[in-house]
Amino acid sequence: MPVVRGKNIEPLFTAEQIAERNHAMAREIANGPTKDLLVIAVLKGSFIFAADLIRALHHTGLAPEVEFITLSSYGTGTVSQGVRIVKDIDSDVHGRDVLLIDDILESGRTLLFAKELLFERGARNVTIAVLLDKRVKRKEKLEADYVGFECPDYFVVGYGMDVAYAFRELPFVGVVTGDA
Ligand code: IMP
Ligand code: MG
Repeated sequence: MPVVRGKNIEPLFTAEQIAERNHAMAREIANGPTKDLLVIAVLKGSFIFAADLIRALHHTGLAPEVEFITLSSYGTGTVSQGVRIVKDIDSDVHGRDVLLIDDILESGRTLLFAKELLFERGARNVTIAVLLDKRVKRKEKLEADYVGFECPDYFVVGYGMDVAYAFRELPFVGVVTGDA
């Protein structure tokens, strides 16, 4: 089992499994609405997935514009949770087909906020691609259009995702199981 920062990390989805799914997802995306396609990666967690998925899109013949938005959720427990824009996109989304890319769909708050924001700004179509769907944690009525893998209810790290700023660099998705 890989050991990083003195912790055992049990792989859940390997680099090979992820790469294969990314190419399959790119083909699904290419069959959807892609006129004047604008891809928006939701930072920070999606940065590696987005980089791989965008290059897989190239292999399907798509040539999207690529943008980034940094979103952050606030509030915990009993305090009502909200989402705020830490850094916005620069492009005008009016009339565009937009594909949002994120690492995990959990409560759905982050991506619902982003989807509504883009529709308010006049996007023609907004679809969502996520690497992982943690369905049991859903709080909002929101589904992703493209899902890499259904994710069990573990806190996962790697492939862009962190716990306390660590483990984003792992080439696979895994679970921290304890001290090595
Ligand atoms: P939600 O759908 O608004 O609840 O938020 C999902 C976001 O929370 C994701 O984009 C991740 O950034 C973060 N997140 C949720 N679950 C995990 C996890 O298991 N590991 C790392 N980040 C997570
Ligand atoms: Mg995120």
